[in-house]
Amino acid sequence: MIRFLPVLFLSLAAASAAPKPAPATPAPAPPAPAAATPAPPPATALPATALPADASAPPPAGMPKSTFSQCHVEGPYVAMTFDDGPHGANTPRLLEMLRQRKIHATFFLVGQCVAEFPDIVKKIVADGHEIANHSWSHPQLSTMSEATVRDQLQKTHDAIIAACGVTPTIMRPPYGAFTARQRAWAHGEWGYKCILWDVDPLDWKVRNSEHVKTEILKQTVPGSIILSHDIHKTTVDAMPETLDALLAKGFKFVTVSELIAMDKPVAPKPKATPAPKTDASETAKAEPAATPVPAAKPKP
Ligand code: NI
Repeated sequence: MIRFLPVLFLSLAAASAAPKPAPATPAPAPPAPAAATPAPPPATALPATALPADASAPPPAGMPKSTFSQCHVEGPYVAMTFDDGPHGANTPRLLEMLRQRKIHATFFLVGQCVAEFPDIVKKIVADGHEIANHSWSHPQLSTMSEATVRDQLQKTHDAIIAACGVTPTIMRPPYGAFTARQRAWAHGEWGYKCILWDVDPLDWKVRNSEHVKTEILKQTVPGSIILSHDIHKTTVDAMPETLDALLAKGFKFVTVSELIAMDKPVAPKPKATPAPKTDASETAKAEPAATPVPAAKPKP
């Protein structure tokens, strides 16, 4: 409960600081509606808008930026990310492709797959890649209770440490679905940065290697965080040509944490500032709930 109080204060401060429209005429106040004094919500029911919903928006003063969908870097650096594994067959195949090209990527691991394939997790780490928390069973965390979300993240956190001895410092919510309050909470609890993406080849949906390659090449820019899924054979099949084409275009691959370390604040534009993104745009980018969850997939 205590940990939400600063958020509440920020919210209240923001509300009280909001400019109030000056009354055009000193007309008598209209009769107060019956529901003029609703009961304040409990602290645990803060709206998701208590913190900026926009992943790229600067955090409130005094709060570190903890959510990234892309980075602003000097240089052609990008982060390739692979979600939902490890997979018994496709992940080792991918690791070989990455090793041949001396590319380091970031793997957002599902806890129950970590428990099933701890040796592959060790191999991922031994090859120099970053590993990260992608929940235990890939549910939509944004609609779940704090206790359930805690269980999903803590079990995975512990399973990763048990498998490879590395403590993850970043997480990605399945479907990108995580409220601003949850992001602040996970950052406070585990020190997690919340990693979204700006390049989405929709490889979970279009199981076609050529499509995966084409979309990644079309969307990737310096600072991009590229979403893909190493549980799908078509995605891994697309990687040799995709990675070679990105290398040929001059892109350099780093892990997500390395990319974040290079992140530079963007100077605010005085005019023509694009409208801030909302949680709705993020949801639109997220994988649909129809994505097979690891719990339901057949074991390799
Ligand atoms: Ni996922």
